[in-house]
Amino acid sequence: MVRDFAQKEIIPTIGEWDRKQEMNPAVLPRMAELGILGICIPVRYGGQGFDYITLGLVCEELERADTTLRVVMSVHMGLNSMALLQWGTEEQKQKFLAPQARGEKYAAFCLTEPGAGSDVANMAATARKSGDKYILNGEKMWISLASKAHHFLVFAKTDPAGGAKGITAFIVTSDMPGVKTGDIHGKLGVRAGSTGWVAMQDVEVPAENRLGEEGEGFKIAMSCLDNGRYTVATGATGLIRACLEDSLKYAHERETFGKPIGQHQLVKQKIAFMQQWYDAAFLLCMRAGWMKNQGVRNTRETSVAKWYTTDHSVQAALEAIQVHGAYGFSDEYPVERYLRNSKGGVIYEGTSEIHQLMQADYALGYRDDKPLRCELPAYDAEYWQAGPETT
Ligand code: CAA
Repeated sequence: MVRDFAQKEIIPTIGEWDRKQEMNPAVLPRMAELGILGICIPVRYGGQGFDYITLGLVCEELERADTTLRVVMSVHMGLNSMALLQWGTEEQKQKFLAPQARGEKYAAFCLTEPGAGSDVANMAATARKSGDKYILNGEKMWISLASKAHHFLVFAKTDPAGGAKGITAFIVTSDMPGVKTGDIHGKLGVRAGSTGWVAMQDVEVPAENRLGEEGEGFKIAMSCLDNGRYTVATGATGLIRACLEDSLKYAHERETFGKPIGQHQLVKQKIAFMQQWYDAAFLLCMRAGWMKNQGVRNTRETSVAKWYTTDHSVQAALEAIQVHGAYGFSDEYPVERYLRNSKGGVIYEGTSEIHQLMQADYALGYRDDKPLRCELPAYDAEYWQAGPETT
């Protein structure tokens, strides 16, 4: 169903939206209508009740068409809805998660700031407790769906001197006085997507909108990234597949020196690499998804999947352009868009360099995964698919 949607409703016009640098306004309502925005959320919370592997396959199909569709899943589902499922109270799940899963409200994730990206603990946003409210101030940057989302998961310092342990997470809504948003244009890729900023000036957030405990924000953010990075990795796998499939088609059609270019050894070599990268990417993602289904901590496995798949999606896009020759260099074919889109993946949700440091630290024994107060719940089909009446 998702492949059908992506191929029939997205691919025919995505080039135009990319050129316009605008998000097609039909995309979010249509994803909501198809149930994609609640794919792996239990039915009792408004979702479709599928497992985390299905989430990965959906992301692969979406990014096979265009990266911007998968970005929606990364922020709305991976970084926000799954965090509410993992850390939210029952009231927060009913009030915020259920409308998100039904696609009535869109959700975003506000961690990065103009001066803090990889170095999360260095954020400047503050949250001061005042009675039964917190007063939030600060600016968040590079926020996907900033101007479209109704709900934001915002990270701010409740203890500015406390470093990573001074960060707390809050659910902020776009209609709260003092919240302003705007779009960023002029990006290299993900041009048909919505990327922007969120500014907060003396925003009064009720204490019941705090996610987790005071000081738990850094761990919550990292656990969100375990899920967001999974959607990025499975999406990048779809991008590698796009490069491979388009190159195969072109290699059969285009002839040089009296035969289809697929019969030349140096073109075969590029096809072979793309096939290898796709297979390895797919299997790394499925391992991470399987571990999520089992409720097993998968920070390292998700990180290596995110690093491998995004790095190789850039390589695959470069090779796909080379296979297409001059046509690949023009926007007559989509491979130039694949290259521009692929570059975002090696930057957002942990740069390739951050993932290299993490992998080395795991291997050297400098990093280990301690149990969390709230793990992402293991997938249990009976519970996930049971309706609200059985709650
Ligand atoms: N889940 C839960 N807890 C975790 C965790 C995880 N995945 N990873 C670490 N923690 C815990 C640790 O157990 C540790 O707990 P204790 O204090 O009890 O020991 C605590 O968090 C601190 O962990 P570390 O010492 O490992 O932290 P660090 O400072 O070494 O880690 C880092 C740093 C790996 C560089 C991390 O800061 C990082 O991943 N940075 C990249 C951030 C990133 O990806 N940003 C992009 C966001 S995308 C975005 O915002 C835009 C958008 O819209 C998409």
